[in-house]
Amino acid sequence: MATGRTSFSEGTGVSASLGLDRAVGRSGAILGAVANRLDIEDLKQRLLRHDLYERLTGVGAVRAFMEVHVFAVWDFLSLLKALQQRFTCVEVPWIPRGDPEIRRMINQIVLDEESDVGPSGAAASHLELYLDAMRTVGANVRPIESFLKELESGNSVEEALAHVAAPVAVSDFVGSTLRFVGGPSHELAAAFAYGREELIPPMFVQVVAQLAEPSAEAWEPFRYYLQRHIERDDEVHAPLARKLVARLCASDAQLWSEAQAAARASLQARLALWDYVSATIATG
Ligand SMILES: [Fe+2]
Repeated sequence: MATGRTSFSEGTGVSASLGLDRAVGRSGAILGAVANRLDIEDLKQRLLRHDLYERLTGVGAVRAFMEVHVFAVWDFLSLLKALQQRFTCVEVPWIPRGDPEIRRMINQIVLDEESDVGPSGAAASHLELYLDAMRTVGANVRPIESFLKELESGNSVEEALAHVAAPVAVSDFVGSTLRFVGGPSHELAAAFAYGREELIPPMFVQVVAQLAEPSAEAWEPFRYYLQRHIERDDEVHAPLARKLVARLCASDAQLWSEAQAAARASLQARLALWDYVSATIATG
């Protein structure tokens, strides 16, 4: 027999939305109280105090950081598009699927991440902005470009990662992201909200501070990318993403507990990635 939990976590489309609306109706008054109760501060602090940032002191170090981080920039879009697939209608013929407020939240973030405005005013996804920034500072874009070509030609993510001989740390990080993509919606949303949108602004503030040194014009596209995230994620995306988790988990303690585990797993995956980049830079 289907439980309320299953209908929230695995249902998609209209039926999931109806379940969600009933839950929100029951628990609307306490949503604000539960929205930020996840116990993740220890991991956030470890990430924000990571020794990686103080190692981003030279051009070579930042290039090495970008060459690894670009895979996280890429897989973020898959988390987001998975949310869009589940909570909006992306098929033809279109039907009004799901909760309109959730649809609006997700589509707003998709607009900003998949089709933002670049420094010249031209539209670009955040991956394309990042690739431009990498090229401008002479970072090696060949692995990520060839990875994307492999995907375009129909190979799986695992095959594409193997093709470019991606470091184990990168494959592990992307693998953990894709597990969220295939998992229950409240866990996917929690990984998105707490492992990405909420974490990125304070993390990138530290990277920008380190970039104060290489003041050459070549670093402007990267600064723009970081600054854009600091502003949009902090002011718009993180609050929307937390609201999505709150609506999906409603007053169900079990769902909140699973969302917390997903958020923690997402932060742990980031820690492992940062440990790898930091060690790579330290050993030159
Ligand atoms: Fe964002």
